Amino acid sequence: MSSVSAVPDNPSASGSAGMLYGGSSGRRVTVRDIAAAKERHERWPMVTAYDAMTARVFDDAGIPVLLVGDSAAMVVYGYDSTLPVTVDDLLPLTAAVVRGSSRAMVVADLPFGSYQASPQQALETAARFMKESGAHAVKLEGGHRVLPQVEMLVSAGIPVMAHLGLTPQSVNVLGGYRVQGRGQAGDELMADAKALEHAGAFSVVLECVPSDLAERVTASLSIPTIGIGAGPGTDAQVLVWQDLMGLTAHPAKFVKKYFDLAGEMERAVRGFADEVAAGVFPAPEHSYR
Ligand code: KIV
Repeated sequence: MSSVSAVPDNPSASGSAGMLYGGSSGRRVTVRDIAAAKERHERWPMVTAYDAMTARVFDDAGIPVLLVGDSAAMVVYGYDSTLPVTVDDLLPLTAAVVRGSSRAMVVADLPFGSYQASPQQALETAARFMKESGAHAVKLEGGHRVLPQVEMLVSAGIPVMAHLGLTPQSVNVLGGYRVQGRGQAGDELMADAKALEHAGAFSVVLECVPSDLAERVTASLSIPTIGIGAGPGTDAQVLVWQDLMGLTAHPAKFVKKYFDLAGEMERAVRGFADEVAAGVFPAPEHSYR
């Protein structure tokens, strides 16, 4: 099993699953570690996080990159798209994820309307995430439209993760959550990916694109690709944690459910309710004298 390691010279670095990304140096994973992983052809996982406690679990498991996604709009705030969430909604979640982790690089998603207007707007928003939440990088959606924004952020010292394919902030233009990049659109996506790399992005998320296109983009770039619904040929894979843990009611086809969290939580809370009703909880060991 390969890993993104902050201490690539330390062969003894290994975690509970035999892959403690970032090794044992006690420092955060950086963009240099991510770049080195690509050179070594190592695959790595990214998951979303929105609070300190889950961030700590994922950090302890050795997940090298945590994304505070604008998916928070749906999985935290209960909206039916990512559009309504604001910078002020995401800043405290990002700060909590930074506080809850000590090894992972924390990437803050720039929400809809907070960067599209101009490079200046993107810089102001990204700077807020870096200063007020302690994020280590930002993510934004789009191809050629956002190249000036990417250039501005990178020149200001802010690492940028790009996002192509199904870009949920553009769901109304795309006409729904559907596979992108088929046919000629694949050539455009490839051109966008190369342009984003040229503009200085350190990685690019490829969402809901055909596997062969994702594989070709991955082979053509020197920065890592991070797939979600993009098949097995990308450098990294990302999932929303509520999807992979089985909390999401109707996950997309590309989701693999690794746990039945909804079922386990329901069983547990029913057990609590039954014991309260029966007067079994709290027992003496849960009570003070
Ligand atoms: O907001 C998010 O969670 C994302 C990932 C799905 C890539 O953008």
